[in-house]
Amino acid sequence: MPQLLRRTYNSLTRLGPRRSVETLLSIAEDSLFDMRMGTDTTARIPQAELEVISPEHQAEAKPYVMTRARALRRAFEYSGAPLDKSFIDIGSGKGKVVMTAALFGFKRIVGIEFAPELVELARRNLTKVRSHLPADTDVQVVCADATRYDYGPDDCVFFLYNPFGADVMTAFCQQLARSLKAHPRKLWIIYTDPAFIDVMLGQLPVVEKPRLIYGGFEIAFLTHDPATN
Ligand SMILES: C[S@@+](CC[C@H](N)C(=O)[O-])C[C@H]1O[C@@H](n2cnc3c(N)ncnc32)[C@H](O)[C@@H]1O
Repeated sequence: MPQLLRRTYNSLTRLGPRRSVETLLSIAEDSLFDMRMGTDTTARIPQAELEVISPEHQAEAKPYVMTRARALRRAFEYSGAPLDKSFIDIGSGKGKVVMTAALFGFKRIVGIEFAPELVELARRNLTKVRSHLPADTDVQVVCADATRYDYGPDDCVFFLYNPFGADVMTAFCQQLARSLKAHPRKLWIIYTDPAFIDVMLGQLPVVEKPRLIYGGFEIAFLTHDPATN
């Protein structure tokens, strides 16, 4: 109880009353989701406890922390991203974003994660929600490094929750730029806790629209349209 009181006090002083209430509602919803579905998404995992397929990128990798579903749904609505284009979660962790995107109505969703243990966990989580999804939803989690994945012509909606630092972000953007050159198309990028957005703005032909703030999250939105930028 003293810990709960301390956390509530810290949240109130850091975020103010409105965002603290949004945070509490978000935590409650995600805990209930895990209880009801039998999934396991909430606990943070530091990189020091994970093995990854590209150790040279681990120093810049952020710990596993999940995005809250309430903030995500608002971000999806605000982004204007089309549900019939592929949705890619860059650094998909335990699969919370992948599951939320599928339940929101995206038709093809791919999670990309470089820690095999998290990939396994996400796949287990997905089996628990599959019966709640329309039969034609194509959802998968791939064990890959985001800087080396081959992004295809239908991969148009990208989600990132501050997965890595500046150098890996540069390599990821260069990989995406190569894909864009090979397959010119519109892009919608949703970037939560956008610590390295300057790298993205410098590397990709994108424009930013006003940010969304919900609970503890600040979310940036970038778009690319070959007709205009
Ligand atoms: C902050 S967590 C976000 C998890 C999930 N996207 C969410 O919002 O709930 C960032 C994730 O990115 C993964 N990651 C970091 N660097 C990566 C890379 N180069 N390739 C693929 N995944 C990476 C981490 O292992 C971690 O699971």
